[in-house]
Amino acid sequence: MRLLRQRGIKELISAEKLDKRIQEMAAEISKDYANQELLMVGVLKGSFVFMADLIRHLNCDVEVDFMGTVSYGASTKSSGEVRITKDLEQSVAGRHVLLVEDIVDTGLTLRYLLDTLRNRQPASLRVCALLDKPARRRVRASLDYYGFIIPNAFVVGYGLDYAQKFRGLNFVGVLENPGS
Ligand code: IMP
Ligand code: MG
Repeated sequence: MRLLRQRGIKELISAEKLDKRIQEMAAEISKDYANQELLMVGVLKGSFVFMADLIRHLNCDVEVDFMGTVSYGASTKSSGEVRITKDLEQSVAGRHVLLVEDIVDTGLTLRYLLDTLRNRQPASLRVCALLDKPARRRVRASLDYYGFIIPNAFVVGYGLDYAQKFRGLNFVGVLENPGS
């Protein structure tokens, strides 16, 4: 079953590398928020695996919430219009917010979420993304914390999907023939 599902997927970042890097990121975040209460906002669905591992390595006060987004248009091309499908359950006003993303590609989702959250007047707002794919960036997006810079390829696993599949892989892999 596992073997079959992994056909056509080439490992890019191993489980060991993910684990090591996430521990480093958690140490940095723990240090930066040592005296603050942190509200981590995960962007569904892709960030749930990363966020679950990250939070277990943090040793600062942390609460979690989630937002859901979809971008209009075809599945592989973002039209630039983003819609919120699930909003936060709590107010971010006056909170120290860390937005947690699986991957920043064009940057359009991130920009939309940052604009939206900024309007709600958090005390601070930073971004943490596991993967950064700068080759396709359409808007400036600065990441406060990132795990890995990756080449311009479609990746799956560790929360990331292709047509809702492959999120459960414990590594990040390149999908070699999407659609075939
Ligand atoms: P954006 O283009 O930066 O707005 O990225 C929007 C969303 O597309 C990301 O949060 C991911 O959920 C998804 N995405 C972008 N690139 C990939 C990829 O290589 N694999 C899986 N999902 C991706
Ligand atoms: Mg996403």
